Formats: sequence, structure tokens, C-alpha cells
Amino acid sequence: MELQAAFDVLLTSDSALDGLDALIWQSLAAGAISAGHPWANGCLTTLSVSAAGRVCPSSRTVVLRRCDIAERSIDCHTDLRSAKVHELAAQGGEVCWLFYDQASRIQLRLQGVAHVLNDRSVDADWENVSSLSRSAYLSVETPGKAVAGQQPPSTKDRFVDPQESERGRDNFRVVRTKIDAADWLYLKDGGHVRASFRYVEGGVTEAAWLVP
Ligand SMILES: Cc1cc2nc3c(=O)[nH]c(=O)nc-3n(C[C@H](O)[C@H](O)[C@H](O)COP(=O)(O)O)c2cc1C
Repeated sequence: MELQAAFDVLLTSDSALDGLDALIWQSLAAGAISAGHPWANGCLTTLSVSAAGRVCPSSRTVVLRRCDIAERSIDCHTDLRSAKVHELAAQGGEVCWLFYDQASRIQLRLQGVAHVLNDRSVDADWENVSSLSRSAYLSVETPGKAVAGQQPPSTKDRFVDPQESERGRDNFRVVRTKIDAADWLYLKDGGHVRASFRYVEGGVTEAAWLVP
């Protein structure tokens, strides 16, 4: 209920709309540093191409790893070889993130453009990836590749000593999304509340309440 309490207090203030954007971003920043936060995980949607050749959305859960409030950007980590990385390159980086907190019934949709980083800052991020999480970047075979047989493929190749885990760095990438627009919805008892935000040139935020 931690999200709900903060938003409930805000909604009683005279400058609720001005404060809402700040609270949304503070909540994202909290989600990026606390695994127990309701927004610690988000749903990231990219645009893919279906077998029939149509552009279609493709969503998956990711861990929110960083939030830069000043830059209006959020990060996740991923494997260079994953479908989402190919989709970002092929479709110009257009993405949508979705966060939902079941306890407070607050949803946040963020739209923006993502790009894949592999600079020195990513080296620093990699240093902080735990050995357990490093296993996600250590598959020898390409993630998502179909495998024949009745049993799921072995993942034994991923559980290695710290020195050998360094080879995962080749596959490790940071996906940074610069957010252009937000849509916040609170299914509040007694009356739902919805607002939208557009982050335009020069750091200007255009905010409005919406009919929920
Ligand atoms: C709770 C949870 C957290 C996840 N976090 C990440 C993540 O941070 N990065 C990532 O690439 N995949 C993560 N995954 C796996 C993705 O949801 C997805 O299955 C995988 O990245 C392959 O996606 P793609 O083939 O569409 O690229 C997570 C899955 C779950 C269930």
C-alpha cells in the first residue's frame, strides 16, 4: 500500500497535478532500487514482425534497473542476443512500459524511445551484476532458439565460477528508454483518477487530468 498512501496524500493537496508527475518519478526511482517495490518489475513492449509479416506488439517482464529523473529515462538489462534487442534496432526503438500495483490498483504507462548501450558505464553496471543474475547472460546457445526433444534444454552451462562468469559481459547490455509520455491511472474507491503527461522539448512537462 506504500504507493497508494503517497498518492492519496497528494490528491488532497491544492497542487495535485503539479505534484503528481514528481511523485510518479520518485516512485519509479524507488522501484529501481528496491526489489520489493510494486514497480520493481515492469512490462516492456517492443514492436516485432509476426510470422505473417505484420508489425505487432511483443511484451515481456523486465526488472527496472535505473531511473534518471532529470533525464526522464529508465533502464533495464538484457542479453544482446534477445529478440527485444533486434526489435529495437528494426523498429526505431519505439517502446511502451507498463507498471501495475495490484495492492493499490495504480497503473502507469510510459511511452518512449529506447536504445541499447554498451559503453563504459555498462562495464560498471556489469560489475554490480550478482553471480546469480550473471547466469542470464551465460547461455552458449542463443536465447529464444528452438530446441528439439521432450525435455527442456539444460542450463548447466550458466552456473560457473566468478572468473568464468566474465564471459557474460559480451552478451550484457543496458536498454535505456527516454520517456516522452506517461499515462497514470488510479482505480480509487469512490472515483477513479487519471492523468497524462507529455515531456516535450526544453524539459517542459505538459500535464492534464483525463476523464478516467
Ligand atoms: C520477473 C521477471 C523478470 C525479468 N527480468 C528481465 C530483465 O530484466 N531483462 C530481460 O531481458 N529479461 C527479463 N525477464 C525475461 C523476459 O521476460 C523475457 O522472457 C526474455 O527477456 C526474452 O524476451 P524476448 O525474447 O522478447 O527478448 C524477466 C522475466 C521475469 C518473469
